[in-house]
Amino acid sequence: MKNMLVTGGCGFIGSNFIRILLSESDFTGRIINLDKLTYAGNLENLDGVSDQFKDRYVFVKGDICDSETVSELFKSYGVDTICHFAAESHVDRSIVQPDAFIRTNINGTFNLLEYARLNGVELFHHISTDEVYGSLGETGLFTETTPYSPNSPYSASKAASDLLVRAYFKTYGIPVTISNCSNNYGPYQFPEKLIPLMILNGFERKALPVYGRGVNIRDWLYVRDHCIAIWKIMKHGKRGETYNIGGDCEIRNIDVVEMICNLLDEICPGKTPARELITFVKDRPGHDMRYAVDSQKLQRELKWRPEETFESGLAKTVQWYLDHTEWVNRIKSGAYTQWISDHYGGI
Ligand code: NAD
Ligand code: TYD
Repeated sequence: MKNMLVTGGCGFIGSNFIRILLSESDFTGRIINLDKLTYAGNLENLDGVSDQFKDRYVFVKGDICDSETVSELFKSYGVDTICHFAAESHVDRSIVQPDAFIRTNINGTFNLLEYARLNGVELFHHISTDEVYGSLGETGLFTETTPYSPNSPYSASKAASDLLVRAYFKTYGIPVTISNCSNNYGPYQFPEKLIPLMILNGFERKALPVYGRGVNIRDWLYVRDHCIAIWKIMKHGKRGETYNIGGDCEIRNIDVVEMICNLLDEICPGKTPARELITFVKDRPGHDMRYAVDSQKLQRELKWRPEETFESGLAKTVQWYLDHTEWVNRIKSGAYTQWISDHYGGI
């Protein structure tokens, strides 16, 4: 793995991955970060990286769906490995405007696979989500053999991309690995997702919009633990295999929001309790009730374990957002604010 094409490296997980890979791992090659810089991609997420790693990091602004761009990258940089994060990633947006999800998540993945097939690669690692498995009842866990049953345009487009990656392994023998991870949280997450949205709204004393009755359950994983798992799979995972990644940390949304409120109250004492800002709003259509991931295969075969507890990871995350108000203000002054006010009347 000498020349790794990382797609979507300016987003939340991709930017954490690039930092960790360059500064803390045994990876010695070069990263070529291809990112379209949509509303969710931000060059600032990798501030300092191009200076610190002049010979080992290149940023290219471009679209994974654009054949010329991808072909040129293979030629110019001798790409031998792909780590594919780029996607439209927010379920609520996929409900309002699914077209970009089909284009980027399906057509974009197809385009990358085609260039991997034509040029040959050492590895195509595809980053996916546990949401492809659909929704669980009160019991059970998603395993690697759980049938796909996606319920949103987002999860359906990710499911389609997973199946294309699988087919390219089976049909053309492209060396692939796939990881399906649970909900991530941590630094640099765009504040449309539950945890950063609640932290920032709570800090600004705005309403905390909890969908439905807040009883939906997600399995939370600190982003750093996800990135370490991805690198382990890339290095040691069996080609053609899928690995589930989860935090073994199932929590109801309302409990997550209350934990954030408690942390905010500790940091900013004297104000009215943040939990008074909790507002139950109309539920998301097709809202999956429960996600919970069985990551035994990854734990057993590749000796991975999450290091961060939810309590410690959440406290770090709240502090990170409060320490990065300039980043937050710039992010929120852009397309995000406009989009939210267009679609949700400015929650
Ligand atoms: P994100 O929305 O924060 O970042 C996506 C990045 O992809 C952005 O930098 C964006 O500019 C870029 N991008 C979008 N369309 C592009 C295109 N056509 N060409 C090039 N770049 C493009 O997403 P994230 O939360 O970092 O998620 C990364 C990956 O991990 C996604 O594939 C997502 O499905 C998966 N995933 C996310 C989570 C989570 O909780 N966030 C959990 C499991 C899996
Ligand atoms: P989200 O962060 O959008 O991730 P996903 O839908 O991919 O799991 O949402 C996490 C959970 O929080 C989900 O059950 C929806 C809920 N939610 C709210 O209750 N209010 C909000 O404002 C948001 C963004 C999400």
